[in-house]
Amino acid sequence: MFRMVDIIEKKRNGGQLTEQEITFFVNGYTNGTIPDYQASAFLMAVYFKGMTAEEQGHLTMAMVKSGDEIDLSAIRGIKVDKHSTGGVGDTTTLILAPLVAACGVPVAKMSGRGLGHTGGTLDKLESIGGFHVELTEEQFINQVNELKVAVIGQSGNLTPADKSLYALRDVTATVDSIPLIASSIMSKKIAAGADAIVLDVKTGEGAFMKTVEDAKALAESMVAIGRQVGRNTMAVISNMSQPLGFAIGNALEVKEAIETLKGEGPEDLTELCLVLGSKMLVVGGKAETIEEARGQLTAVMKDGSALKLFGELIKAQGGNEAVIHDPSKLPTATYQIEVPALQSGFITKMEADDLGVAAAILGAGRATKDDQIDPAVGIMLKKKIGDTVEKGETIAIIHSNSKEIEKSLQLLQEHIRIENDYVAPPSLIGDVITGD
Ligand code: URA
Ligand code: CA
Repeated sequence: MFRMVDIIEKKRNGGQLTEQEITFFVNGYTNGTIPDYQASAFLMAVYFKGMTAEEQGHLTMAMVKSGDEIDLSAIRGIKVDKHSTGGVGDTTTLILAPLVAACGVPVAKMSGRGLGHTGGTLDKLESIGGFHVELTEEQFINQVNELKVAVIGQSGNLTPADKSLYALRDVTATVDSIPLIASSIMSKKIAAGADAIVLDVKTGEGAFMKTVEDAKALAESMVAIGRQVGRNTMAVISNMSQPLGFAIGNALEVKEAIETLKGEGPEDLTELCLVLGSKMLVVGGKAETIEEARGQLTAVMKDGSALKLFGELIKAQGGNEAVIHDPSKLPTATYQIEVPALQSGFITKMEADDLGVAAAILGAGRATKDDQIDPAVGIMLKKKIGDTVEKGETIAIIHSNSKEIEKSLQLLQEHIRIENDYVAPPSLIGDVITGD
C-alpha cells in the first residue's frame, strides 16, 4: 500500500514515479480517498519538477482507465484522430473528416460541444438543417464501416479523472504545466478510441501556447506519450496570430468548408488541412510519404469525391445534403453589414480571439453551456495581415439577425489593426514533430 505523502515527497525531490504510484494517485483522487490538499501539493510538485515521458504515459493511461473507453475495434482500419490545441474556430475538423475519409482512412469522430466564440464542430454541423449528432454506438460504428466517416457528440463517461484533476488545476495555478496538459489531451483522445493521433499545436498570441518554444515542448511531450502508450502520434506547430480562413460563425464556416473541400477555399485553411490531412494518411497507413498523401488529398478535392462524401455524411445523419451544391440552403442572417476601414494602410494585426468576441456577441458562440447559438450569424473577413487597405474599403462583413451591431462593428474596427508600415503575414506552418 502506498501513502500519498510519500508520493508527494518523491516528486517534490525530483524523483521518478512508478506506474503503480501514479495509478494509486489517479484512482485515489477520482474515488475521493485522496483529499484535495494532497492532490494539490502533488500537482504543484509536478508543476515544478516535471515528469518523464514514461511517467506521462502512466498518468495518461491511468486517466484513460478511470472511465469508459470507446471500443472502435469493430471498425476496419487504423482509426486516426486529430486534435487542435487552443484554436479559435475548428473549421479544419469539418473539412478533414470527409477529406481524409475520402482517401480511405476511417474517421470515427467524437466531438465535444465546448464553449467559445463560435460553436464547436457539432454546432457547425447542426447549422445544416436536420443534421443530428446523436447516434447509438452501433449506428456510429456501422456508419463508419459503410461511409468511412461519422461525427457524433460525446457520450459515456470518458476520463472522469481528467475532469476532476483539471478542475483542481484550475484553482491551484497548475493548469499550464506541460506534462499535465499533454497527458490530459492524450487521455481524452485515447479514451475516444484513437489508434493514431495527429496534433495541431497552435502558437501565437491568442493561442494557448504563446511561444513557439512552449508549443514545441507540448508537442514533443504528446508525441513521446503516444510512443509510450503505443499510439502513433505526430504534431504540427501552426500559427494562430490571425484567424484561419475568412469565416467566423457556424453556417458561414460550413460554407467555407464546402468551398475548401472543392479545392476553392482560403489558402491558409486549405494549406493547414493538407498538412494535417497528409499526416493523417501517413499514420493511417494509406500513404508512405507526405508527398504521396498530399497528392491523394488534392485528387479527392479535384475530382469532387471529398465533397460528395461530405454530402453523404450529412444525409446519413439526417441533414439536407443539398447544401453542398447550394449553400444558400444554409441559415442566412437578415442583415449583412459592411465594415469600412477607418484609414488607409496595411493590415498589421487581427487576433482571432478579439475577432471571435465580435462574432460571439452577435450570437455565434456560447459563454455557458446552456446558451443558444444562432447558426446564421458571424463575421466574414475580407482582409488578412499584410494586405493593403484604402480608407472606407470593406474589411469585414457582419452577418446579423439584429440591427444592433455597433459593438461588433467597433470591435472589428479596433482589432483589425491598420498601420502605415507593412507587416509580413505570419508563416502558418512551423515544425513538425514525429518523435523519430
Ligand atoms: N486542454 C486540455 O484538454 N487539457 C489541458 O490540461 C489543457 C488544455
Ligand atoms: Ca474559422
